[in-house]
Amino acid sequence: MKLINHYLLLLPLIILSSCNAKKETTAISLKDSYKKDFYIGTALDANQIEEKNAKEDSLIKKEFNAITAENIMKSMFVHPAKDKYDFALSDKFVAYGEKNKMFIHGHTLIWHSQLAPWMTEIKDSTEMKAFMKDHITTIVSKYKGRIDSWDVVNEALNEDGTLRKSVFFNTLGEQYLVDAFKFAAAADPKVDLYYNDYNNEEPSKREGNINLIKKIKAGGGKIDGVGIQAHWRLESPSIETIEESILAYSALGLKVAFTELDITVLPNPWDLKGADVNQNFEGSAKMNPYPEKLPDSVQVKLAERYASIFKLFVKHKDKISRVTFWGVHDGQSWLNDWPIRGRTNYPLLFDKDLKPKKAYQSVMKLKETKE
Ligand code: G3I
Repeated sequence: MKLINHYLLLLPLIILSSCNAKKETTAISLKDSYKKDFYIGTALDANQIEEKNAKEDSLIKKEFNAITAENIMKSMFVHPAKDKYDFALSDKFVAYGEKNKMFIHGHTLIWHSQLAPWMTEIKDSTEMKAFMKDHITTIVSKYKGRIDSWDVVNEALNEDGTLRKSVFFNTLGEQYLVDAFKFAAAADPKVDLYYNDYNNEEPSKREGNINLIKKIKAGGGKIDGVGIQAHWRLESPSIETIEESILAYSALGLKVAFTELDITVLPNPWDLKGADVNQNFEGSAKMNPYPEKLPDSVQVKLAERYASIFKLFVKHKDKISRVTFWGVHDGQSWLNDWPIRGRTNYPLLFDKDLKPKKAYQSVMKLKETKE
């Protein structure tokens, strides 16, 4: 009887402490949950770098320990004219990462897209090589010891694994790949250097990517990792395809990073056989099925997809350096405007009001049940 009385007295305390314990688990973040596995990153837009929205800012600091600039470090912004660099925003980006003790990734040095117009006019190989040397050396040296890794070359491959006929390839041939990595390593010998692409988990492009890595190494370039962008869909690529890629790249002695992760839930116009991707799709209800809210059934599918992807990532955590989402929340995602402008997509873990989605819970739950 005495024992029961004693227990009754303690009951409120027990309830209170279990509530507190629950609070602690819900307060934990992505970066804390995965801290023993790999960095959890996000891409930041210019407003986020400038901390313009306090709610977004505290979410970023709470959940992520790695950052990539979504746009502001691309050539057209940092190197707008031959003799002019503009580091105003990239200085803020690097300072933001340092202030918050985050892993800082540089995106991107050599990319055929978002080039300043003057760069696209370079036709001569000597001039192009001089441009590449100046561009890479100036930017990498400026942030030497402060930026932790760089996308040295971005998207140099076609879907069949052949080399894209970019302005770099057309003037310099495939040697430009080796040179880019050499220039970057010379400017900061300690920084990690990555080749980054999309769809490079798919077998034919993967094969081309493996050849490209081998060429860079054979030519004396230093390459530390491969970035798989991971702009994925609910049904594809398969977990097996992703796993084969992790193993294949890692077998070359490289770190594997998932650098731009998001999962579209919207129909793809290219799936409609014979249909051109053109203005006709804009404003089409069929192509923008969830303008107000994502139905629960799709929310669940997205959560399951993220869970299976992260389960695989954890299985291969020894090979994976970083997993970065391409944006903080659904409202800012590039997928609202691509491949059709003005749609409402739901590809990330936080909704446009910054609320964690089912997908967030499923990624978090994976670690709760494991450890
Ligand atoms: O800044 C202008 C704004 O003033 C204007 O009102 C608005 C109208 O459309 O456009 C704004 O610029 C857009 C910019 O994003 C900033 O939002 C550009 O049109 C748009 O083309 C640009 O898209 C970026 C895209 O790269 C360009 O290629 C996306 O934000 C960015 O997420 C995307 O990121 C790429 C990676 O760098 C490489 N891998 C693929 C990935 C997705 O495409």
